Amino acid sequence: MNVIVEEDYAALSQRAAGIVASQVARKPGCVLGLATGVTSIGLYEALVERYRAQEISFSRVTTFNLDEYLGLGPDDPRSFAYFMRRHFFSRVDLDPARVHLLNGVAADPEEECARYETAIAEAGGIDLQVLGVGQNGHIGFNEPGTPPGSLTRVVRLSPETVRRNSRLAGQPVPDRALSMGIKTIMQARRILLLASGRDKAAAVAEALQGEVTPAVPASILQLHPGVTAVLDRDAAALLRNWRELCEGL
Ligand code: F6R
Repeated sequence: MNVIVEEDYAALSQRAAGIVASQVARKPGCVLGLATGVTSIGLYEALVERYRAQEISFSRVTTFNLDEYLGLGPDDPRSFAYFMRRHFFSRVDLDPARVHLLNGVAADPEEECARYETAIAEAGGIDLQVLGVGQNGHIGFNEPGTPPGSLTRVVRLSPETVRRNSRLAGQPVPDRALSMGIKTIMQARRILLLASGRDKAAAVAEALQGEVTPAVPASILQLHPGVTAVLDRDAAALLRNWRELCEGL
């Protein structure tokens, strides 16, 4: 795994944007997997800046978001569709026909998940998947205990995830969601894992240097050949020998 430790959140966001931008430069018609959450906001800000500076175009890019709350439509401010519109989609030249989100209000959520897997496959698979990590080690909404073979499906969120995300949203969020599975994520050709802040340090250390176990869903990323983790110093605080890690281990 390639580990990059930046001084702070601003530098992390710029570095992450640089990685996404070079993916798009290399393959203008690439497929990006996108995350929501506080950590990703700086990345989207930095990408919007680059777009406005005419350094990057998303006009041929296809996107797939990781997850969505079950029962929330795109106009609900708690929904990830709303988040993405606000922070990214409405501010760049993405073609709406190539933007994919799980529909939280689909009549048949399981069928919606199966449709999503097919759409990812038909798009040729994900070239670069952006991930955040939960304090409990979740990736996407794959909570501890999720089997490695899981695909996109309806999931139940842990009480701590619901509590934290409700606090951030300023109102309760649903305790069920639609989420890409661990296998869906691991099928991406490259993965960009972002973590910022001291409250992520334990999860980051377990994910990057602990045992590979479903108890820490992000730990499976150790088995993926194309992961770059971009951390700030606080998130890297509990890594053993991170300076050596950064030198390319
Ligand atoms: C978001 C997602 C989650 C978040 C994770 C970190 O689409 O799937 O796994 O990436 O919960 O969230 P923040 O960045 O808010 O700490």
